[in-house]
Amino acid sequence: MMKSSGNIDDNQFRHEVEADLRDAIEHGILVSILARKLSEELGKDEQFCYDMSVAGLLHDIGKMKLSRYLYWRRDDSLEIEEMKYVRLHSKLSYEILKDKGYSDNVLDAIHYHHENYDGSGYPNNLKDEDIPEGARILRACDVFAALVTDRPYRTAFDMNTAIELMIEEVRNFDLAIFMAFQNMVNYNDFTDIVYNGLFENEDTIDEYIKLCLEEYDEER
Ligand SMILES: [Fe+2]
Repeated sequence: MMKSSGNIDDNQFRHEVEADLRDAIEHGILVSILARKLSEELGKDEQFCYDMSVAGLLHDIGKMKLSRYLYWRRDDSLEIEEMKYVRLHSKLSYEILKDKGYSDNVLDAIHYHHENYDGSGYPNNLKDEDIPEGARILRACDVFAALVTDRPYRTAFDMNTAIELMIEEVRNFDLAIFMAFQNMVNYNDFTDIVYNGLFENEDTIDEYIKLCLEEYDEER
């Protein structure tokens, strides 16, 4: 699936793949940090907090199988046909990871991280408490992380604007979890957490890079 095409030569292709991979890893790291912190804010035990940091790191790994639909684009337009494929990625992430020894908390959070609290999400249109708690945690962290990061087609929103945009879409979120997220944003060290990162899980990061490259080579 991931053949170079059009006008780009193989070197440029490889460069684009690596740049996309780096963006994907940085997003994973940020979601991981946020999901761990938010779980702590919610009073969860250490195992659950750790599981959320793993789920945050790995949640979008299924996108590696969809790269030609997602990457090398410099705007945010997606054709309807493409959207259909993009919406497969959370299930693909789950399928890539399901036999690799991760806990149910990790796998459920990843599988359902695009479910919305009002039932409008995917893949299963789960609603309210039917959405695993870890997935509800990941949902808030994922959206925030995307908003405060530069994209090829727009610059990052500042944190206050990101929260305002999330409030406009609050039906997507578990309100208790979103309130906890807002509390967390107000802590003094939060900017540090978002912009400098706390690399507590380097082994997991290495593992993620390895998995991504394996997926990449399989697809070539
Ligand atoms: Fe995702």
